[in-house]
Amino acid sequence: MPEKIAAGNWKMNGTRADLAQLTAIAQTAQGAQCTTIICPPAPILMAAADHATGIHIGAQDCHAQPQGAHTGDISAAMIRDAGAAYVIVGHSERRTDHGETNAQVLDKCTAARAAGLRPIVCIGETLAEREAGNTLPIVLGQLAQSLPDGDPTGLIVAYEPVWAIGTGKTATPDLIAEMHGALCDALVARYGAAGADIPLLYGGSVKPGNAADIFAVPHVNGALVGGASLRADDFNPIITALSQA
Ligand code: PGA
Repeated sequence: MPEKIAAGNWKMNGTRADLAQLTAIAQTAQGAQCTTIICPPAPILMAAADHATGIHIGAQDCHAQPQGAHTGDISAAMIRDAGAAYVIVGHSERRTDHGETNAQVLDKCTAARAAGLRPIVCIGETLAEREAGNTLPIVLGQLAQSLPDGDPTGLIVAYEPVWAIGTGKTATPDLIAEMHGALCDALVARYGAAGADIPLLYGGSVKPGNAADIFAVPHVNGALVGGASLRADDFNPIITALSQA
């Protein structure tokens, strides 16, 4: 069985004043039967890593190069040095806001692993792609092109339909089952038995009220949570629902 993972993406939210939320999240995470990760914004990565016991810290993006003249970017090695162990790559907001391609996401994923980070690789279709009937080719193409060849140990995949992110529109359990089933099949076809051990997270308006239903779907091994990860009062029930799933 793949590892169960509750991951929170704080996006461009949070300052040191919000580290108190980590303390409250850690209290729940410590007793839970799942891995808990929080990905705060880069300026507080080190403070978060120092602050957190019982939860893991991740970054929200990394550069594909190990160092160099890339103003404003951060490398995977810097993230590791800050005390984080995970990094989100290919989030739809990066793909949209910064035009990131699958090839760039693959390079970031490779850089992350080289630096000892576990990448959380995000894929998902837009509403227009779904309405045009292109969901499976788009998402399976993203999966194929954003993940590295060879040993998949440490990889984490998050399926996040773009139309469900931050909109309050959650995919139905049937839709999630169809997508996660297809993704699991594709991972096994590519990596063999090891592909079945890659955690497959769902993301897109996961909340305390829908988490248990989502975690009951086959091949859903956890969630990547945006808005509902900002406050312990919202995120802790999601951790608990995953722990009990
Ligand atoms: P949301 O974001 O939970 O606020 O929809 C999910 C994500 O972007 O990872």
